[in-house]
Amino acid sequence: MKTQLDQETKDKLKKRAREVRERAYVPYSHFPVGAAVLTASGKIFTGVNIENASYPLSICAERSAIFQAITAGEREIIALAVTADTARPVSPCGACRQVMNEFNPKMDVMMLNLTGDELRRTAGELLPEHFSSGDLEQS
Ligand code: THU
Repeated sequence: MKTQLDQETKDKLKKRAREVRERAYVPYSHFPVGAAVLTASGKIFTGVNIENASYPLSICAERSAIFQAITAGEREIIALAVTADTARPVSPCGACRQVMNEFNPKMDVMMLNLTGDELRRTAGELLPEHFSSGDLEQS
């Protein structure tokens, strides 16, 4: 399993997140977000935010990308890049943080904006004490 990301892989992930952002479906917020994930097997999957006239049914770019990877049979996600046109690096919502932690609390999360700012945290740092499978066990 790959633990350290080399510069080339990081750059590729960021580029894919930026490129896929163009495909966001955002007729309500007009706030396109793009995400790309790198799996343990070395594959990259991308996702965008997809909104709905019934607003709560919308999905964020991060979960969209993670679900693409899981659907393809992947189970471990090493890194995630997410980008939007924000003043500070875009900050994933709580639901996405919970989903990131399901698949790897050590996931390397790169939060970006279009001006080149970057903030890097692990999924665990983004959501300490997340609810996990162990919490489903009865006492
Ligand atoms: N959104 C994302 O896709 N990812 C984030 O990290 C922040 C928010 C989406 C949800 C909604 O479609 C739009 O951005 C505005 O909240």
